Amino acid sequence: GHILVVHGPNLNLLGTREPGIYGAATLPEINQQLQRQAEEAGHTLSHFQSNHEGAIVDYIQQQGREADILIINPGAFTHTSVAIRDAILAVALPAIEVHLSNIHQREPFRHHSYFSDICIGQVVGLGPQGYSLALQAACTRLNAE
Ligand code: DQA
Repeated sequence: GHILVVHGPNLNLLGTREPGIYGAATLPEINQQLQRQAEEAGHTLSHFQSNHEGAIVDYIQQQGREADILIINPGAFTHTSVAIRDAILAVALPAIEVHLSNIHQREPFRHHSYFSDICIGQVVGLGPQGYSLALQAACTRLNAE
């Protein structure tokens, strides 16, 4: 199958951005490891990062129909974006939500996600490994189809 990985705003700064919260791994390192993991499982993977809400909506509209599953960390758009939520629903793409930090342990405005009820599941608070766990779950799901 084909897997999309989408990273929202400020995740391009991983490695230097509040490393105590988000860890030391950079986004290219994370993407490279996911790419390898997907290949080993016999799937293809495309990744995308943007700081712009509309660009993420465009990407999901354009790539979502050809894909089988989405792994998404919407960053701060998690807590604000009806538009990205609607894009996922519009292309009927099954999705898994990932957060590096435990959003439930942080400020109250991070506790609500516009994605949690439309996603298959969430991986929260496990750092970069969360992406890998989400991908493992995505592969298990694709292999069962
Ligand atoms: C985040 C959590 C969000 O609240 C925050 O705005 C981010 C990153 C995470 O991965 O922990 O940018 O999605």
